[in-house]
Amino acid sequence: MDMNVENLLSDGIRATPPSFVRSILKAASEPDVISFAGGLPNPVSFPQEELLRSVNRVVKTYGSDVFQYSVTAGLPQLRQYIAGRYNRIFGLSLSEDNIIITTGSQQALDLIGKVLLDKEDGVVVERPTYLAALQAFSMQQPVFYPVELTEEGMDPEGLERALLNPVKFVYMIPNFQNPTGLTYSAKNREKIRGILKGRDVVLVEDDPYGELRFEGERLPYIGAGRLKNSILLGTFSKTVTPGMRTGFIISENRELLKYLSVAKEAGDLHTNIFSQYVIWDYLEHNDLDAHIAKIKALYKKQAQAMMDAMDRYFPPGVKYTRPDGGMFLWVTLPEGVSAMSLFSKALERRVAFVPGDPFYTDEKNVGTMRLNYTNADCGTIEEGIRRLGELLRDAAVEV
Ligand SMILES: Cc1ncc(COP(=O)(O)O)c(C=O)c1O
Repeated sequence: MDMNVENLLSDGIRATPPSFVRSILKAASEPDVISFAGGLPNPVSFPQEELLRSVNRVVKTYGSDVFQYSVTAGLPQLRQYIAGRYNRIFGLSLSEDNIIITTGSQQALDLIGKVLLDKEDGVVVERPTYLAALQAFSMQQPVFYPVELTEEGMDPEGLERALLNPVKFVYMIPNFQNPTGLTYSAKNREKIRGILKGRDVVLVEDDPYGELRFEGERLPYIGAGRLKNSILLGTFSKTVTPGMRTGFIISENRELLKYLSVAKEAGDLHTNIFSQYVIWDYLEHNDLDAHIAKIKALYKKQAQAMMDAMDRYFPPGVKYTRPDGGMFLWVTLPEGVSAMSLFSKALERRVAFVPGDPFYTDEKNVGTMRLNYTNADCGTIEEGIRRLGELLRDAAVEV
């Protein structure tokens, strides 16, 4: 008789939902479906030739080191590069000791959950927020305190109220947020900084999209350089390649870094050292800013194509965010229209999006949806939005 796996499961895995986005990606990836559902960088942005040269160079130059076990914190040269880049851009004074290389920033989320959370500990999150962060933290069975995300960022009063609960950390995506594409204003950052100052609460700023700003000026991080109790997450997934799974944790709090490093040691010993060497060599021999400038120009055009098509094809009463960077925008449907109930009808019309539901901890059948604009050309974007517009017109008539 087969063993009953269900009976053997931990409470942690029982509390962890499978990713809704990953479950719909199969349907969304059928060849004739125009998909705005994934969160994939445009593959034309991968510097394949340059990476191939780096692969050859690191194998020739560093020999067996590239294939050997390595240190948990990550390749020192890569950590120095990251420290230098953040110091230059943000006027910080980081050294390699402030940095741990992680297997994508997704691993950083997992490590933070493991290091800081016991069952029923509190975590403040944006409402809505990145669903795979909710998934990573759920393993520890915390209590989520969602705080409304406004056009300015997390609502400061809501944050103060949420902090009346026993909270271990606050999780934010301040730049071109996933799923909404919204960015925290300078004023809001200042307010949040004030609220968190002096509290025994860790601020986790997750910033995979900050480098992809195609309008306006970069804003300072809420925590970096000002709060000792903050963690900043970065990644090469959106600027170089996601497949090499190379991200990083930055903190001025060495004690936190020490425990995160122990958790990483227990999890995977270290991030793939071959990937780290290749990324580092790529960064040493190429101009990352010039490369990012090309990605930003591409995404700006695609975002504009999506917004223009929405202006043309969406019925009145449908609202959407106008992002200044990143990969997503967020659509709010008229009262009473559920995005989830439109999902299968959209697939029938061969267009896919992510209904808002999995991005909330506290609500289902919401009237919001996430659209990704980075992975289709402008003509395809226009056609997909035309199809969605037709569907939304029909839905608005039914309401
Ligand atoms: C907000 C946010 N955090 C973290 C990640 C994970 O990125 P990676 O693990 O590729 O660095 C993503 C990926 O889409 C994201 O949107």
